Amino acid sequence: MLTRRKFVGVLAAGLSEAVLAQRAWPTATPPGVVWLNVNEYPEGPPQASIAAMMKVLSESNRYHYGEFASFSAALAASVNLEAGNILVGSGSSEVLHCAVEAFVGPTRPFITGWPSYEAGPELTAAKGYPVVKIPLTSDHASDVKRLAGEATRTGGGLIYVCNPNNPTSSITRAEEIRWLAENLPPETYLLVDEAYIHFTEPPEAERAAGLVRSGKRVMVLRTFSKLYGMAGLRVGFVAAPADLILRMKPFRNNVISIVGVRAALAALEMGPDLIRERRAMIARTRADLTQWCRMKKLKYIEPHANFMMIDTGRNVRELGTALVGKGVVPGRPFPPYDTMLRITIGAGGEMAKFKTALGELLSI
Ligand SMILES: Cc1ncc(COP(=O)(O)O)c(C=O)c1O
Repeated sequence: MLTRRKFVGVLAAGLSEAVLAQRAWPTATPPGVVWLNVNEYPEGPPQASIAAMMKVLSESNRYHYGEFASFSAALAASVNLEAGNILVGSGSSEVLHCAVEAFVGPTRPFITGWPSYEAGPELTAAKGYPVVKIPLTSDHASDVKRLAGEATRTGGGLIYVCNPNNPTSSITRAEEIRWLAENLPPETYLLVDEAYIHFTEPPEAERAAGLVRSGKRVMVLRTFSKLYGMAGLRVGFVAAPADLILRMKPFRNNVISIVGVRAALAALEMGPDLIRERRAMIARTRADLTQWCRMKKLKYIEPHANFMMIDTGRNVRELGTALVGKGVVPGRPFPPYDTMLRITIGAGGEMAKFKTALGELLSI
């Protein structure tokens, strides 16, 4: 007999196969390939972080439990909050999962703009819980009025806003997010995913930590995987009111690697200069790419993060496969944006290779 538990398991297995097939490009990648597919930073961690990691490697026989309180305090200080407002995760993925576990359920849907980052909807669907997807507005922002309306109608557990949004690189303006935080139905929580916030210029996309400070039922995801160049180290956190942190905490998986902790601390000690320099580097390369698109008459969504979506006018699954064949791996297709190619902003030479390859394929 197919019990409910087995049925959900079957659904989850089918889903993950479909997701894997969708993410992977069918062609084997040639040597010297350029990876512009998952929005990583083109350089590694800052030198100070590398030195800090080298130093702690020989002490990695220990869990270093004693260091985690001060790590939370340092993260909290970076967003002007208290240590009790922070939950550290193995990348922001882990604490995103914790939020789904704590606030989404069979009668409490996960509500998100669409297309957007898929991890939350995927976990929710794998658990057999409802997901509500609301199309982005015409300027590719989260439609906050509709998100709030759906939360009221369905008894939403969690509203998810990715800002800047992955895959579109567009932003939802601070006043819209503030309106949403102030108009949540009584049982609904707001999760703002700021994985790419360091690439935006404040106050264009004001950070949502201010809403946590003012006591709203808001949680903010941050990661060291993007601008800090530490995707392989797995360091992220969620900032939230202390009572919400306590609800998410039981779903965490112990502590993270001390190597990642020391790397993140060293980067935080470098202060805002590191962020400004890295943001400026990406902004220059991105401006060069948008200028090239305009010259080649390619439309694109105005980018605010370290990636952008270009309208190629062609089926992006076929075009992406052809690009892989030319040694450039782009982002996977994001239906229903079937002609839009998501490209990570890499190093200058990598972008030159991308432009040559795309130019050849589109004969432009
Ligand atoms: C919007 C968004 N949130 C979260 C993540 C997860 O990042 P990590 O777990 O490396 O912090 C990603 C990764 O690509 C992302 O694009």
